[in-house]
Amino acid sequence: MLYRARAFDTPDDPFDPATAGPGFRHDDDLGLLVSDDGVIRARGPFATVAAAHRDAAVIDLRAGLLLPGLVDTHVHFPQVRVIGALGMPLLEWLDRCALPEEQHLASPSYAATIAGEFVAGLVSAGTTTSLVFGSHFAPAVDALFAEAERYGLRMTSGLVVSDRMLPDPLLTTPQRAYDEALALASRWHGRERLRYAVTPRFSLSASDPVLAACRAVLDAVDGACFTSHVNENNAEVATVAGQFPDRAHYVDTYDHHALLGSFAVLAHNVHPTDPELAVMAARGTAVAYCPTSNAALGSGMFPLTRHLAAGVRVALGSDVGAGTGFSIFKEGLQAYFLQHLMGDEGMPLGAGHLLHLATAAGAAALGLGDTVGDLSEGKQFDALLLRPPPGTALDIGLRHADTPEAALGKVFALASDADVADVWVGGEQIASGGFVRPVTPRAPAGRRTPAG
Ligand code: GUN
Ligand code: ZN
Repeated sequence: MLYRARAFDTPDDPFDPATAGPGFRHDDDLGLLVSDDGVIRARGPFATVAAAHRDAAVIDLRAGLLLPGLVDTHVHFPQVRVIGALGMPLLEWLDRCALPEEQHLASPSYAATIAGEFVAGLVSAGTTTSLVFGSHFAPAVDALFAEAERYGLRMTSGLVVSDRMLPDPLLTTPQRAYDEALALASRWHGRERLRYAVTPRFSLSASDPVLAACRAVLDAVDGACFTSHVNENNAEVATVAGQFPDRAHYVDTYDHHALLGSFAVLAHNVHPTDPELAVMAARGTAVAYCPTSNAALGSGMFPLTRHLAAGVRVALGSDVGAGTGFSIFKEGLQAYFLQHLMGDEGMPLGAGHLLHLATAAGAAALGLGDTVGDLSEGKQFDALLLRPPPGTALDIGLRHADTPEAALGKVFALASDADVADVWVGGEQIASGGFVRPVTPRAPAGRRTPAG
């Protein structure tokens, strides 16, 4: 296939002072030759690529604007239906909104319904790669992986484990946490585009024995990832300090069990100390910055400048359902707003920074930087086509934008799910004209459809 499009991506890190220019790559009339295995084999001006590959079927996408698939590094599967509860800080929101809903996923049929809604939410938003906080119930996590596989999504997820401070049905034991994680990983880790993530909810609800069991799962599952929450809310931070008097700080509750590394992503980190940032930088652990969630729960202003100065990698997370939707464009815009409002302490963000945070930075945070994140030769063709409905402000704005920078700024200011027309993962199209469609039919009960 030879795709012809106007495209933006960020192969060079705009946060790196050595990166010159606008911080993004823009091609007015790009040719991308994609082989049957979904890899971009040639890239260049359309006329040049077309001349070199005269037999390739051309797909003309010039009615829209092509971007790399978006990457969401922190999003909760069981929380689709609690999006939009306003006015509560973290611990009250968990008690009143998130945790009651999460208990419903004990029912496999309910979990399957939510898995459908959740995966459709990701695809509709143009999110092709994600690190997903799973459920406390193993059959629900099976349902999520099965649905992600049906759409060919690139997804990393796992069983959420806790052994205290949550409602009883959400609690487990270290041994059960280990056994269920291994069983899930044996079914899903490394299958198609799926990977396993070891996922204690947060150390507030996970004792040392559960955290030790998490390390044991990492030892047993080659290439597994790790994710949890950290330093989100002041009351949470104070509670964790009281629970772990022997640890240097919140980050140390994980680091003590060797849970941090370049395979790890910690969500939020709104209130880090400098020693915590130093540990995260030394381990290569990334942070999921969740701007709408941080604002909706009143968690605080994310210190992006301090993260970058310390050498901690940062990408974006929607944090559905504390976050206010699946759109990573919206997270980028909120990041821009909030950093701007932080004055001297904020990080000034241009359109290239936002696209990088929404794509390549996320891929790098998840250890997938060689596979996806931009539209370079050798990468998988994970992409979305923005095609705003005629007459909308985004349509008008893009048609009248004077410069590529202005056009990309309009994308982050105005784009929503309604503008995401087509979505591809690994060259397979999973949304067309705004309608999501699976690449693999649903398997009849008791049988699995061969991956393909
Ligand atoms: N900390 C522990 N659990 C959660 C959750 O579900 N959402 C958020 N935002 N923070 C958490
Ligand atoms: Zn979260």
